[in-house]
Amino acid sequence: MKNFKLIINLVIVVSSLMFFQCTSEYTPIVGPAGADGVDGVDGVDGVDASAAACITCHSSTHRNPIINAYATSGHGSGGSWARGTSADCAQCHNNEGYIDYLSGNFYAIDGTTGDYATHPVTGELIPSANPNGYAVSNPINCTGCHTAHRSFDFENDGNDYALRNIDPVKLDLDPTITIDFANSADALGLSNACITCHQPRTSYPIPVGTADITITSSRYGPHHGPQSTMLEGIMGANIAGSTGYPGVASSTHRTGSSCVACHMGESTVATEGGHTWIPSPDACVTCHTNGAPTEVAGFAQDFSTLHDLLVAKGYISATGSVLGASGSNASGTNPLVVPIKDAQAIWNYKTLEEDKSNGVHNPTYAKALLKNSIEALQD
Ligand code: HEC
Ligand code: HEC
Ligand code: HEC
Ligand code: HEC
Ligand code: HEC
Ligand code: HEC
Repeated sequence: MKNFKLIINLVIVVSSLMFFQCTSEYTPIVGPAGADGVDGVDGVDGVDASAAACITCHSSTHRNPIINAYATSGHGSGGSWARGTSADCAQCHNNEGYIDYLSGNFYAIDGTTGDYATHPVTGELIPSANPNGYAVSNPINCTGCHTAHRSFDFENDGNDYALRNIDPVKLDLDPTITIDFANSADALGLSNACITCHQPRTSYPIPVGTADITITSSRYGPHHGPQSTMLEGIMGANIAGSTGYPGVASSTHRTGSSCVACHMGESTVATEGGHTWIPSPDACVTCHTNGAPTEVAGFAQDFSTLHDLLVAKGYISATGSVLGASGSNASGTNPLVVPIKDAQAIWNYKTLEEDKSNGVHNPTYAKALLKNSIEALQD
């Protein structure tokens, strides 16, 4: 109460002084300058103009659905991640192995000599995950694909989503070939993040030349992830035939779309797009304005024709395992020796099977591989 009275009195005095000053013509002489005040406390570092954007993307409300989507995907819960303890598989089947591979700190070791291995095509050292292998193998997770932003100037530099790798990728099977999805609708090359894993393995060379080919494994083929090379239109065995092969990287799905655009587009359905990696029809209708075609014309029929021809020749089992001369799975002791064109037809069958898009990744290339492989076997 006492303070309140004091304040009231002060207010009255001050306001009367103000009144007095306004009406008076008296000008006082300026006194000497006072001592400098104490320096203020440093402010907290400012956030730049896009702070709201940072928060929108970094908030838990935004991330929780992403984490849920990831958990349901093959990336989060697939069975093949268990394979990543082995140095040969860790690059693509182990989060730590993938990070180590991209670090450039490790090179493959030749199992027989114990020295560094060299690439059969280039003679160069072969980048690798830790050649000692891993005690534990984890699925690729947020920290595998993402690390830190290259730039915060999103307006000029674009948002790289802090992806670990957006650089062009030299292919394992032939490092003289580089794929760079940045020269497409995907300007920053976000889809380059997928190539390291979704490419053919080094296990078997693509059959070329004129000599017979000796196949020593039931798993002959490019392994399970030839999607980036299919999109690019390379690394099939391009048998000559009546159907011409499209130019490299010429498919509209390659030039006008991208892995990330088709598999991670925005979707109104939580079970598609984004971190489910399931293509959403929303990603197709920008071009296929009446809805995407449900299949590559003729693919299913030609694929089954090729399958049946290979089975009839005794080259593959009904489920697609390559068979040796004895009729059971091919191996070192039970090899399959075939004319080059037949080996190429097997390679193409396995490539289209393992690509798992039923030709969608590159419809024209898929059709050419099928037609020409069928012709070669029917000769
Ligand atoms: C469109 C989404 C998006 C926007 C906008 C964005 N980020 Fe990120 N940022 C990411 C992703 C994805 C990661 C990967 C790591 C993660 O998930 O935390 C990341 C990682 C980071 C990291 C390193 C990892 C960590 O958690 O310490 C920092 C620091 C960061 N962002 C700061 C910022 C700042 C500051 C801004 C605004 C100028 C910003 N981000 C805007 C998506 C975004
Ligand atoms: C260059 C990358 C790469 C390497 C190296 C690699 N894989 Fe894979 N593997 C993949 C990809 C990508 C898939 C998933 C493809 C898909 O889902 O379409 C896969 C899938 C698999 C599958 C699941 C197959 C299926 O049809 O469900 C098995 C099993 C597997 N790999 C085993 C191995 C083993 C064992 C090794 C080492 C000897 C290995 N992989 C090395 C990329 C690789
Ligand atoms: C296989 C690689 C991969 C994994 C694993 C992954 N991301 Fe991403 N993430 C990407 C790519 C590629 C983009 C860019 C997508 C685009 O352009 O639409 C992205 C975009 C993002 C964005 C910004 C786009 C958006 O939808 O808001 C956030 C946030 C993000 N990721 C968080 C995460 C988190 C959290 C995890 C772990 C649960 C994770 N990511 C796991 C590849 C990955
Ligand atoms: C570290 C290697 C690696 C990277 C990087 C990677 N993938 Fe995969 N991906 C795999 C493996 C391995 C599988 C199979 C997992 C399983 O089912 O066992 C897979 C599965 C998939 C599948 C099938 C999903 C499912 O739910 O069955 C799609 C689609 C896919 N990846 C797309 C992408 C795209 C697009 C990118 C780039 C943004 C990418 N991947 C990056 C290794 C990788
Ligand atoms: C034009 C759109 C489009 C583009 C571009 C595209 N995909 Fe696909 N992808 C599809 C469709 C459609 C399927 C078939 C999905 C299905 O039937 O479940 C598919 C299938 C796949 C599968 C097999 C999924 C499964 O169920 O096992 C993988 C893995 C994959 N794509 C990875 C990639 C990668 C990596 C890239 C970039 C190199 C890519 N895709 C580019 C549309 C696309
Ligand atoms: C950038 C434009 C574009 C986008 C996006 C796109 N497509 Fe296509 N698609 C085309 C064009 C153009 C063709 C014709 C063949 C070619 O150029 O390779 C085609 C061909 C096809 C075919 C083959 C049709 C036939 O008769 O053989 C299928 C199937 C297909 N697209 C499915 C899809 C699916 C599914 C998606 C979305 C996941 C998609 N497309 C996204 C442009 C696009």
